[in-house]
Amino acid sequence: MVVQAIHNAAHEFAAGFATDGFVSDVRAGLTRPGQKELPSKYLYDDVGSALFEVISHLPEYGLTRADERLLRRHAGDIVQRLDAPVAVAELGSGTGKKTRWILEALSRWQRTFYYPVEISRSALLMCQRELSDIDSISIVGFEREYLDGLREVAANRQRGQRLFVLFLGSTIGNFDRPAGVKFLADVRRVLKPGDSLLLGTDLEKPSAQLLKAYDDELGVTAAFNLNLLARINRELDADFDLGQFAHVAKINRSARSVEMHLQSARRQTVSIPAAGLRVAFLEGETIWTESSHKYSREEVFEMATNSGFCCQAQWIDEQWPFAESLFIAE
Ligand code: AVJ
Repeated sequence: MVVQAIHNAAHEFAAGFATDGFVSDVRAGLTRPGQKELPSKYLYDDVGSALFEVISHLPEYGLTRADERLLRRHAGDIVQRLDAPVAVAELGSGTGKKTRWILEALSRWQRTFYYPVEISRSALLMCQRELSDIDSISIVGFEREYLDGLREVAANRQRGQRLFVLFLGSTIGNFDRPAGVKFLADVRRVLKPGDSLLLGTDLEKPSAQLLKAYDDELGVTAAFNLNLLARINRELDADFDLGQFAHVAKINRSARSVEMHLQSARRQTVSIPAAGLRVAFLEGETIWTESSHKYSREEVFEMATNSGFCCQAQWIDEQWPFAESLFIAE
């Protein structure tokens, strides 16, 4: 039998409440002195999630395919290293396509409980549809922020059950380095010794390759980035002229990251009525919308140690340097 449900916090849907976090984050990010910024999590509304799905098929963007290749090839080996029985919690499941390999490998051994935690409802629904055919699986989705969802999963764990957390796709790369380690430590605090975490990290590669990956020829990444302004127009009644902002990808050498920005083509003022805001832009001024940090293999072992885990094994894709690392909670 397949159990399917989505848990969402009902109060988030009460009138006027849903956009509160968004309004205050937009206000804070666009009024801060110096570099304007918007949190990258807001890239993923229904349109943004669909555009990211397209990005993952682009020849220039090998990250998602590398992640999936590794999981397909090594799923058996990965799950062999776990202490059964495990319940699987995934932080940011997306469509769930690459998770299939892990869940299928586990389901050969046990009845598998799978808890995707995802802020995009449409991605959550797609993920449940994609994976519901797997033998002896129960899927319960959590439409939540990562740590809130994980805490809820952990609170409901059955006796003797280990938690296996998936944090794939190098989503960790959206945090800067210290915040990434802090996030892992926060995850660790929700876990018990012997629980585990599979972490996907994109590895360092030549700048030219990275710039192409984050500024593709078709302009899908540009649309993905500009959709954030379109979203502010849709949800906060703003009047961003999308033709007056350009997608820019740049390498930050000291941070070892690729940054996405939205650059104003001219001096202009934008009003955002729902935030009670008028924002002035200089010609060439940018809004920083995302960073994707790139890692070395050794560094991932250090991140494990610095967050209360031990990195037990690592698998590397040679075609598009990417690492899958198995962390065990100490
Ligand atoms: C889904 C966060 C891993 O940072 O590479 C893709 C998002 N941004 N193209 C990444 C993204 C621009 C992606 N992550």
